[in-house]
Amino acid sequence: MALRVALVASEAAPFAKTGGLADMVGSLAVALARQGLEVTLVLPAYAGVLRRADVVGAGMGFNVPAIDGIERTEVLESVLGEDARAYFVRTDRFFDRPGLYGQGGADYQDNADRFAYFARAALALLARLGPYDVLHGHDWQAGLAIAYLRLQPDRYPALASTRTLFTVHNVGYQGLFDAGVFPRLQVDDAHYWSNFEFYGNISYLKAGLSLAERLTTVSPSYAEEIMTPEQGFGLHGVFKERAGDLVGIMNGADYAVWDPSVDPFIARQYSPVAPEGKRDCKRDLQRRLELPPSDAPLAGMVARLVDQKGLDILVGALDALLSRDLQLAVLGTGNPYHEQALRECGQLHPDRMAVRIGFDEELAHAIEAGSDLFLMPSRYEPSGLNQLYSLRYGTIPVVRATGGLKDSVLPFDEATGGGTGFLFEDYESAALVQAVDRALDCHGRPAAWRRLVANAMAQDFSMERTAAEYAELYAKLVDRDD
Ligand code: ADP
Ligand code: GLC
Repeated sequence: MALRVALVASEAAPFAKTGGLADMVGSLAVALARQGLEVTLVLPAYAGVLRRADVVGAGMGFNVPAIDGIERTEVLESVLGEDARAYFVRTDRFFDRPGLYGQGGADYQDNADRFAYFARAALALLARLGPYDVLHGHDWQAGLAIAYLRLQPDRYPALASTRTLFTVHNVGYQGLFDAGVFPRLQVDDAHYWSNFEFYGNISYLKAGLSLAERLTTVSPSYAEEIMTPEQGFGLHGVFKERAGDLVGIMNGADYAVWDPSVDPFIARQYSPVAPEGKRDCKRDLQRRLELPPSDAPLAGMVARLVDQKGLDILVGALDALLSRDLQLAVLGTGNPYHEQALRECGQLHPDRMAVRIGFDEELAHAIEAGSDLFLMPSRYEPSGLNQLYSLRYGTIPVVRATGGLKDSVLPFDEATGGGTGFLFEDYESAALVQAVDRALDCHGRPAAWRRLVANAMAQDFSMERTAAEYAELYAKLVDRDD
């Protein structure tokens, strides 16, 4: 019998996305289904979901006891890939809003209620669709789904044999709320200290982490890093305690979406055996961004503009970088302070640096295809997907040696011609500039560069492999009889 797994998350491509969580969850669902598992994905019915033509009513509705009363819930559905089922729990007062988590840089005030409701509604739905072998929750927004199932099994008898797995994609986002919220969660006070309390607040991430039977994170290096005080964001103790149940599984890329030989968003498709199209993609990108059609190397960056992504060392490096024979293309949205710093620099150097503030899926593909280098100077990076996409597009990653970046980009080795990119250790502008200089030096030697690009494009970080590791973990979890 096929294993039945329920993925509960706040984002999944193509339905709702602010970052890599969406890519990972969406492509995991598709890949698991392709490998023969029965996959159900549960998401909130956000405004963007309500507008999609491929999302329809599921003919199901129920009342969910959540927060301070009964919440009427309708269910919508769609199909992901060939046969992963996606369901959306709909309560418009919580989710029919312009943003997923907030607007104009500020979180919605009622996120604690929104995602407590989401957890209750997801479990109520799964209890109707079940049984399930595994409930696989992702990040703090799904933390309470794990917690409620573990702490209140009597409320969900249909899920009595469901095992729990929780994946943390980013320990920097903890679902922290005022402790005054706790009574609204309808959980016995006895669980407050061990599963919810976090330095005077409550944390939905801690609830998931402390209560799931098994834990994963999104790269082997990040699994080590979060057990240290520097990278654990105060939760390193929890991770250390649970080290025996924690494993780091490197994310994969969905090559049906992110591969220049099939990408419909790019000017001309290309591949390792027919690489000529990349030049057209570069010209097209320069045209779109109003940069001169120069042959100078072009470095791209697509990121949420938040501290995690190394914006301060990037901004500190811009003067030096722009004094090189180099063009820069940056796409992102996030912290207004970082947006402003980038925008100002772009305005000062319109012929060298193009900055686009906003979320633009098509331009993200065009930057992957049209750039020579891709910058990820992250302060920390649990997995990172853009470097995986870059490798596939023959766009050489220049990355800080941290987390999943370290696990997926191999340092270029002059002597052997091996490697796939350029890494730097110190979280400093000068170290980033040095790494870019090494890349530029290599770019100046066409034979070495061709070799490097070929190495990069030959890498296989397909989601199939990642999904196979998760499937194995589910099977182990189900076999466990403790
Ligand atoms: P994170 O999840 O921390 O944001 P990842 O590298 O895992 O980082 O994934 C980022 C994903 O979000 C990629 O698919 C990237 O292209 C996309 N992305 C980020 N910012 C934007 C943007 N402004 N416009 C379009 N896509 C974006
Ligand atoms: C998080 C991390 C990123 C990771 C993504 C998907 O947003 O910041 O490194 O790739 O989740 O797992």
